[in-house]
Amino acid sequence: MPIEIRTIADSELPQWMAALQVPFLVADGGDPEQQAAIRRPHYDLSRCRAAFDGDVICGTFRSFGTELTVPGGALVPASAVTAVTVLPTHRRRGLLRRMMAADLQASVERGDPVSILIASEYPIYGRFGFARAADHVRLSVDTRAARFTRGGGGTVELVDRDVLRRLGPSLYERVRLAQVGSIGRTAFFWDTALGIVDAGWTPPKGTRYVLHRDDRGEPQGYLRYHVEEKWDDRVSQTTLVVDELLACTDDAYARLWRYACEVDWVAMVKAEDRSTDEVLPWLLEDARAVRQHHRSDFLFVRVLDPAAALAGRRYLSPGRVVLDVRDDGGHAAGRFALEAGPDGAACARTGEDPDVTLDVRALGAVYLGGVSLRTLASAGWAEESAPGGVHRADALFAWDAAPWCSTWF
Ligand SMILES: CC(C)(COP(=O)(O)OP(=O)(O)OC[C@H]1O[C@@H](n2cnc3c(N)ncnc32)[C@H](O)[C@@H]1OP(=O)(O)O)[C@@H](O)C(=O)NCCC(=O)NCCS
Repeated sequence: MPIEIRTIADSELPQWMAALQVPFLVADGGDPEQQAAIRRPHYDLSRCRAAFDGDVICGTFRSFGTELTVPGGALVPASAVTAVTVLPTHRRRGLLRRMMAADLQASVERGDPVSILIASEYPIYGRFGFARAADHVRLSVDTRAARFTRGGGGTVELVDRDVLRRLGPSLYERVRLAQVGSIGRTAFFWDTALGIVDAGWTPPKGTRYVLHRDDRGEPQGYLRYHVEEKWDDRVSQTTLVVDELLACTDDAYARLWRYACEVDWVAMVKAEDRSTDEVLPWLLEDARAVRQHHRSDFLFVRVLDPAAALAGRRYLSPGRVVLDVRDDGGHAAGRFALEAGPDGAACARTGEDPDVTLDVRALGAVYLGGVSLRTLASAGWAEESAPGGVHRADALFAWDAAPWCSTWF
């Protein structure tokens, strides 16, 4: 019997939840009925797809609508792809390809300029036009070497999880509107991230919440952390793990990092999923106290509508460039003239000769300013079609801060 790809009915959500636990190697994701009940109010089932082998769900795929912060602080509608799985019994028979094609087509019909995702394994999504657009890093800080030259201002206080649940969303909202590469966070995200709703994941035991207030008493940031206690020969080797540090001001940023580094017994602070452009080393007398252990891809972008995507962002200086976009998937293919500037941009299809010819993946990679087109041209992802074309395009696409997405989805 041929395998059918379709959206799921409400009654099929528990089976869908159970199916994705196998490829995701989840040992105990909780009772599927209960997990489905938790998610039902928040999932748009017209965007939850499955592959059916008879009655058996052998593949899952979901997307949801969000906003992507692009250079200049503009918000571009984005389709965020998640929960992509195919059972080991059905792998490499083209089921992901079929679910992806259906979802991208639906995104195009809705008018989403871009689709985004986080890849479990790097090689999966390039073939569908996605490219690495925002990286993240893992940091550690040797607290015994970390002396702050600027330690921030305001006050810090330990608060209950409920206080963070109440104040966190508006603080995050302020940050994400300025942070290129961010996405929106829903109430359901906050409830699951803080473990208020048991979505099959609980925050580490002993998680602490620290709120920063400025001198007027206004909240300006927060820190979530837990510790891994360890002693060697009665010397503490304890690690403080930063689960999230978010700051709306420079003072809050420095004060919260200083808090993390000054907790007694803590020898090492570790932080995952941080920006490649972290200010922390510049706050220290000895910047080598901070080590960057691992830099990796995080957010992938797939441009679906180049005209809307490119007109949606801002550019540091005015300029004009014609791009010839190649796209095996078809959605973004064509020539586009971009008239760009700091206050806005216009982009439309054109018949003019191009300055640069590029793969849709190159467009996704440079879209948030995370890599230069020159680098991608050297790798064969783009070609200069008119003298100086790559340089002119790079002058437009560059941005003054690295893109960073701090939200898993
Ligand atoms: C990733 C996964 C969904 C792929 O499903 P699938 O149905 O086997 O994929 P398809 O058969 O449609 O493959 C389409 C193409 O992608 C390639 N591909 C699929 N998974 C790949 C992987 N993990 N690494 C490299 N290439 C991969 C296939 O070889 C095929 O290549 P082709 O274009 O040359 O034909 C499945 O292997 C899985 O569930 N993995 C574990 C969970 C996971 O990582 N999910 C992704 C979360 S982001």
